[in-house]
Amino acid sequence: MDLEILGKAESIKKTKHGLVIQTKEATARIWVYSNNIIRVNVSKAFNANDHSFAVIQQPAGDFEFSESNDEVTIITTGMRLGIAKNPLRFNFYTVNGHALSEDDERFGINWQGNRVINYRKLYPDEKFIGLGEKTGNLNKRGASFVNWNTDAAMHDTKTDPLYKTIPFFVGIHDRLTYGLFFDNTHKSYFDFGATTDDQMTWFGADGGDMNYYFFGTQGIAKIIEDYTWLTGRMEMPPLWSLGYQQCRWSYMNAKEVLKVAENFRKYNIPADVIYCDIDYMDGFKIFTWNSQTFPDPKALIDKLKEMNFRLITIVDPGIKIEKGYPQYDEGVKKGYFATYPNGENYTGEVWPGRCHFPDFFREDVREWWGKSFAALTQPGVEGFWNDMNEPAAWGQNIPWLVKFGEKFMPEVRNAYGMQMARATYDGVRKIMGNKRPFVLTRAAYAGTQRYSAVWTGDNSAFDEHMLMGQRMVSSLGICGMSFAGVDIGGFSYNPSPELIVRWNSLGVYTPMFRNHAQQGTIMREPWRWGKKNMAIIKKDIELRYRLLPYIYSAFYHSCLTGLPVSRALAIDYTNDKKVYDESYHNQFLFGDSILVAPVESTKLKAKVYLPKGAWYRFSTGEKFNGGKTITVDAPLTDLPVFIKAGAIIPMQNVVQSTNDKGDGILALHTWNGVEPSIFNYYEDDGTTYDYQNKVYYKRQIIFDPVRRSISFSDVEGSFTSRFSQVKLMLHGFSDSSKNGETERRQVLYKFGNAAFKLTF
Ligand code: GLC
Repeated sequence: MDLEILGKAESIKKTKHGLVIQTKEATARIWVYSNNIIRVNVSKAFNANDHSFAVIQQPAGDFEFSESNDEVTIITTGMRLGIAKNPLRFNFYTVNGHALSEDDERFGINWQGNRVINYRKLYPDEKFIGLGEKTGNLNKRGASFVNWNTDAAMHDTKTDPLYKTIPFFVGIHDRLTYGLFFDNTHKSYFDFGATTDDQMTWFGADGGDMNYYFFGTQGIAKIIEDYTWLTGRMEMPPLWSLGYQQCRWSYMNAKEVLKVAENFRKYNIPADVIYCDIDYMDGFKIFTWNSQTFPDPKALIDKLKEMNFRLITIVDPGIKIEKGYPQYDEGVKKGYFATYPNGENYTGEVWPGRCHFPDFFREDVREWWGKSFAALTQPGVEGFWNDMNEPAAWGQNIPWLVKFGEKFMPEVRNAYGMQMARATYDGVRKIMGNKRPFVLTRAAYAGTQRYSAVWTGDNSAFDEHMLMGQRMVSSLGICGMSFAGVDIGGFSYNPSPELIVRWNSLGVYTPMFRNHAQQGTIMREPWRWGKKNMAIIKKDIELRYRLLPYIYSAFYHSCLTGLPVSRALAIDYTNDKKVYDESYHNQFLFGDSILVAPVESTKLKAKVYLPKGAWYRFSTGEKFNGGKTITVDAPLTDLPVFIKAGAIIPMQNVVQSTNDKGDGILALHTWNGVEPSIFNYYEDDGTTYDYQNKVYYKRQIIFDPVRRSISFSDVEGSFTSRFSQVKLMLHGFSDSSKNGETERRQVLYKFGNAAFKLTF
């Protein structure tokens, strides 16, 4: 196999949105998408009709162009792209000329057969974060990865690849930041200086174009905002999906499902969701119910609703080969399945046995799939869990000649799960009208946040999986996938009581809070762990519900900006080396102001790094100065969680579900600080799309430490808050208090709609 390295520019043409440059080997096209985003596509066979699964924007940025003997330059108000002409190399700079990322001069972009690779310079202090769901450290420097969506059952803390492909990362060096999104669905590779003697970083794919988007803005939050402008953001999820979710493979019949729901209510443990895993179906046939074990799904769901529970059911892509099964008959008749090149339907084995696989890349197939959800929505299902969509087939290696439409499996495999989630989302959106559905997917490609929440697949009941899961959630958040979760308690193996307790306390601060376990493992519901442990679990779940006003506002902010709810500290403290340190890289901010330090269940003391500023321990009010490491107690009853000084955290009383309206009093917790702070409060009906027509309740709450005041802006939007009154909970204000104890103002103020100010 020859090596071809991109050579000399032979012609350069300016276009409306960028440039077209011809070399002997390939054509390079540059588009300016915005002042901070430039796309580079270097191709031997460019196909203008080849659309991106991820990108939802068109090039629209202004730029200036200049040319010298050696270089062509594209300048925007946000960045500069210097293109060396001979050989053709792409070098990105800030507007002030600081290098952000440069091609390796020797090798740049090149091909070995169809394989296309880009070698880029590696800077001495360069760190890399992102790439979504990957094992290993938060900082990916010195590691390499493959993207090839895989049913990674029983994975360990080193396994790669896993279920998702999100080829987006952020580079950090010399106090500068940049982002790079390699939009290519072939099997792809990233090497962050793992194998190159620290000379280069490289990425590439088995086929397709060298096709990347470069983000030149400064600041990781801004890069995430730009990346999610390009690839989309989530919509407001239904409020109930932010409550506690109880899952298992499987609750085997309707009675068992009801019993679980009843127990939550009996023990007064708040919860909103119960799942049906594969066993609710008849012979694992998608869109069916087992008539023996789930004889009357509507009656079951109605009863659940009376208890304020929602039901989520699983769907897998594999359609069982069985004459008389409508999905099979129709799929065969209409030619909806993936095929061999001779037109025969491809057959692989999954849970139902021999199956065909819908070609979700086709619009008519997606429509067909979407409509079938009536079998689930009619009895009242509101959440749809998409699994096995890498796609999984026993034996893993679906033959490379299997076709989805015109494309062979290797080219589009990594986007299959995303297209299934898209078909599911579009379908249930149509059926459910103004009601928000909840969609959850295991496999994903960049941009899947537009359709679905994600979870990290089959983890194990070990401490290191709990910690790794948190890093995955943080890394997914960097890549626009804000609504993410893990199987709390660990899917495989049996957790110790200590681990389930600890993991549940971390779940409070995980965007999706779902407990799930594999068939055959011990039961995992909160009451299975003895009275003492149940009490701790209950208290933590109650805390989640108390925090929902804060969490919901954080989700809204995430919908607007793409900034994750669960944030690696690197986003806010980018130039603080400690946040990349393996001792602290599991720590994260939950929303703007809550710092969480995950701790193994076997350790009752923890070393925590608090970044600059002052912090208060959530549970005790004890104040700490940041910029240093502290050692704190970490009993199973009290995960180390810290509140940023100056924070405003709206909380509510304990409710048993999100249907429960509570006592109507919003408790506004405020921790003393030296700088003013703002909380963007948000509320809506939690279940419909009316918020898109301004039926929401939005206001700014501003804390001014000098005037000792909290002011509330006028309310925007036409929704009436479910809180009629607000009370202040002040932490760290009383002069005699060193430890920031809580001072509660007994007075209740009207929350209302008009601006007002409270001084204290
Ligand atoms: C897969 C899923 C898991 C599910 C099981 C049975 O392993 O990852 O969550 O419980 O299939 O459907």
